[in-house]
Amino acid sequence: MLEKKILIAASIFAVALFGVIALSVRLFGIDLPTCLTDVRPFKDAKVIEQGPKRYEIHYVAGMWKFEPADVTMPPGSTADVYVASADVTHGLQIVGTNVNLEVVPGSVNFARVKFDQPGDYLVVCNEYCGMQHHNMAAHIHVSDKGVAPAILPAAAAAQSSGSDLVAKYACTACHSLDGSPMTGPTFKGLYGSKRILADGMSVTADEAYLIESIDKPVAKVVKGFDPVMPPMPIPPNEVRQIVEYLETLK
Ligand code: CUA
Repeated sequence: MLEKKILIAASIFAVALFGVIALSVRLFGIDLPTCLTDVRPFKDAKVIEQGPKRYEIHYVAGMWKFEPADVTMPPGSTADVYVASADVTHGLQIVGTNVNLEVVPGSVNFARVKFDQPGDYLVVCNEYCGMQHHNMAAHIHVSDKGVAPAILPAAAAAQSSGSDLVAKYACTACHSLDGSPMTGPTFKGLYGSKRILADGMSVTADEAYLIESIDKPVAKVVKGFDPVMPPMPIPPNEVRQIVEYLETLK
């Protein structure tokens, strides 16, 4: 009998609560929160030239692209980078610079960067955001003449060394080279070391392990790290070069 009363009381409270919400939406025009991309400056993906060599880039990050996808500016330019999300949490890292922003729904994040070196700078998402996370990228071309030399993404696979490939695939967005843990384990001293896995087993990080971990990253996840690395679509010859490079990082 008591349960029945409590149940009825709870139902009345629930109905009253939703009634109050509905009423406040009606009477006071109060809106329920959304991802908030229909409001300036959230919705504007654009480049603004503020003056000679002064730019503002307003990025909108969404599954799974950055807009604007291509930005060109002359060497020596300073760019104010603003970024908002159209959906979930993303990351915005400009490889080869200090810019590394969290892209949080409902807020705008900011960084200032000066591009002294001409080149093609890769902008990557470094926060796992779903199936096509690894393809989420944009470019900033720093060049006088429109066509910039590709300094970071390797132009021809045949010529790229392992370290170029590590930059090209933005491995260092999650793996440090100096021993500090990031989203993933550091590359330093990785080769030949003993790895304790999430399931308590241990393996030696030999060549086979490294190849498998690039191919099927969640197969053997190291204890203390989340299984968030997407499978990397890297051709076998490039995987080999990357592994050879990792072996040199003592
Ligand atoms: Cu967006 Cu990962």
